[in-house]
Formats: sequence, C-alpha cells, structure tokens
Amino acid sequence: MARRKKIYEGKAKILYEGPEPGTIVQYFKDDATAFNAQKKDVIEGKGVLNNRLSEFFMSGLNGIGVPTHFIRRLNMREQLCRSCEIIPLEVIVRNVAAGSLSKRLGIEEGTPLPRPIVEYCYKDDALGDPMVSEEHIAAFGWASQQDMDDIVHLALRVNDFLSGVMLGAGIRLVDFKIEIGRVYDGDFQRLVVADEISPDSCRLWDMESGEHLDKDVFRRDLGSLTDAYTEVARRLGVMPKSS
Ligand code: C5P
Repeated sequence: MARRKKIYEGKAKILYEGPEPGTIVQYFKDDATAFNAQKKDVIEGKGVLNNRLSEFFMSGLNGIGVPTHFIRRLNMREQLCRSCEIIPLEVIVRNVAAGSLSKRLGIEEGTPLPRPIVEYCYKDDALGDPMVSEEHIAAFGWASQQDMDDIVHLALRVNDFLSGVMLGAGIRLVDFKIEIGRVYDGDFQRLVVADEISPDSCRLWDMESGEHLDKDVFRRDLGSLTDAYTEVARRLGVMPKSS
C-alpha cells in the first residue's frame, strides 16, 4: 500500500490520511504513557489489543445507534474512521470513586457514587488537561449549549452500554474517558464518539477480586499490562488473531 500522509501523532496513536475524502486511518502504537507523559514505556502488543477492543466497543455502539467515528478495522494495528473535528474536551463519566475524584474530594476509592457523574477536562498537554466546568466551555466557545446537551446524552449512553457489556464479563466499569468529534454532512453537524475506547481510557475492576484490568496497572506498577488487557479481551470474546 502507498505510504500514507501522517496528520497527527499522539502519545498512543498516529492518524494518517484515509483512502477516501472524509476518512482517516488510526494506527495504535505500543507506547504507554501516564501522568502527562512523565512515565513512559513500550508495552509490546498493547496497540494490537487496543485496536481490537476499541473496534469491539465502537462497533457495538454503532450497532445500538450511538454514532461513532469508527468505520472498520483494517488490520492488526489500524482502523478506518470518519475524520472529524475533535472538541477539545475529555469527557469523563464516573460510576465509582477512583483516581483524581478520590484525591480531589477525599472519597475512598471503590465507593459507589450516588449517580453517574460527568466531568470535563480541557485537552491541553502543556496545562495537564485541567478540569473545567460547563461555564468555561460556554464562555470560551468550545461547545454550544446544544452540543453540551448532546455530549451528556452520548456520554451516558456510552456508560449504559459499556457498563452492561462489562457486567456480562464480570467487570465493574468504574469510570472512563471519551472524546467527541464533529462530523459534517453538508451544512449539517453531528457529534460522534471519536478517538478510542479501550482499557487505556477506562477503569475496569474484576467484579469479585477488585483486580485492576486497565491502565492503572501501568500507572501504579501493579503487574503486566498486556496480561490485564488480554484478560479483558478474553472475557469479552475479543481475542487478537493474526489480522
Ligand atoms: O485520572 P482520573 O481519575 O481523572 O481518570 C478518570 C478516567 O479517565 C480514567 O478511566 C482514566 O483512564 C481516564 N483518563 C484518560 N485520559 C486522560 C485522563 C483520564 O483516559 N488524559
């Protein structure tokens, strides 16, 4: 295949121009980073697992009418997606206290929250992705009120879907982060779930033992990240094959 033009390289993925207008190719790297890239490593096979897992979640969402940028997986490390304009927000949904929420509010990790809580961070590596409120989002024009209504709706539908899928695999969906993109059909704008959904961007705990099956294994040096992600893939019936 002809060499593709690189559009963007992030910490865990590279985006290339797609074969048709309005498409991109998303390539999953093996690089793992945490704490705004202060901790780095290369975890062999992580990109392959995340490509498969993100395919599984995104195509499941497409199937229940939650729009995503995902079109199809191309090979072990690449997927074809609709190109979109990423809204500069990380949208976090939490079901159980953990991570930065526990730290910020002094709530013990593992405490169930009274209802799912949606938070926003402004996507800016140099600033360490600071948490922002809807007031900031409206005032700085990152998203309109209609966009925000749509974003919350999408985030909660993703939460329902992922929670259910995980429950069936004996996994507790503690929290996750998604990104939202704008796609344009002529003058009409739609919001879609973009980027990836994988154990890099979720907290997943074994329902029985509480074992961490997500990127906290890397962040907190809890063992093998590949083993944890492979376990998630195995339980979901998403085993990486040779293509
Ligand atoms: O660190 P914090 O507790 O705020 O993370 C909440 C959720 O968002 C976790 O599942 C984490 O993996 C995810 N997240 C992410 N990318 C970030 C920040 C958080 O995927 N830059």
